[in-house]
Amino acid sequence: MVRTSQPTELTVQAQINGITLAFNDQGAGLPLVFLHAFPLNRTMWADQEQSLSSQFRVITMDLRGHGESDAPLWRYTLDQAADDVIGLLNHLSIQQAVFVGLSMGGYILFALCRTYADRIKGLVLADTRAQADTAEGKAARFQMAQTAYRKGPSAVADIMIPKLLSPSTIQTKPELVQRVRRMIEGNQISGIAGDLMAMAERPDSVPLLKQITCPTQIIVGEDDLPTPPADAKLMAGQIPDTRLAVIPAAAHLSNLEQPDSFSEIVRAFAFGLPR
Ligand code: MLT
Repeated sequence: MVRTSQPTELTVQAQINGITLAFNDQGAGLPLVFLHAFPLNRTMWADQEQSLSSQFRVITMDLRGHGESDAPLWRYTLDQAADDVIGLLNHLSIQQAVFVGLSMGGYILFALCRTYADRIKGLVLADTRAQADTAEGKAARFQMAQTAYRKGPSAVADIMIPKLLSPSTIQTKPELVQRVRRMIEGNQISGIAGDLMAMAERPDSVPLLKQITCPTQIIVGEDDLPTPPADAKLMAGQIPDTRLAVIPAAAHLSNLEQPDSFSEIVRAFAFGLPR
């Protein structure tokens, strides 16, 4: 059952699966749960939170290893991240929600589909892909973990920013670039390396696509390089109840580069779901 009761207060922390997870909980109505990209944190959803929390209950969380959540030095998996998401929903007494996951957040949504399909009312898969890493991709993750360990998160920011944002954003929006840099630099090395291992080990989710039965919205920035429109079209071609939106003038972090378009797509999708 979807909780549609009165507004919840802004909450910041909960003990979930033996660690502290930080989150925001704003608004009332159909819950929308936002899962951020690697290696960012829940503040990447600030525009969506502001725009959508007058009509929905908007929950953003720092995944294990990020932002204000704990970053234990141990093995990370995407299944464990899905367990954390569901642990938080249980803590908030939310049975079903619409989940919005961008890139790594989308990988976690595939893990959620495998184990917790009954908790999903609708899915928004943004700038993500169903395929597993190639051997070359896994090797690059290994190298990035070594960079993080030897040189720290700011060296990871140097590598990631040109992959996350378009050249024109990097040239013309220094405040947005700084915001992304601060998010990356705020993470601990244990979390960055843990995520890299988790993503490298994730299974191929292409065979899962045909089994996703909930309504699904796919979003991709037209200039996304890490997860280009071709990956979005592959998902759209196989998930039965799906629609695809390509956002112009946006790269990988389409919700940050075109926040209004992104929020409008999520709003229209959530309003269109059966009540
Ligand atoms: C992300 O934005 O979460 C990452 O680019 C995902 C990845 O590295 O595969």
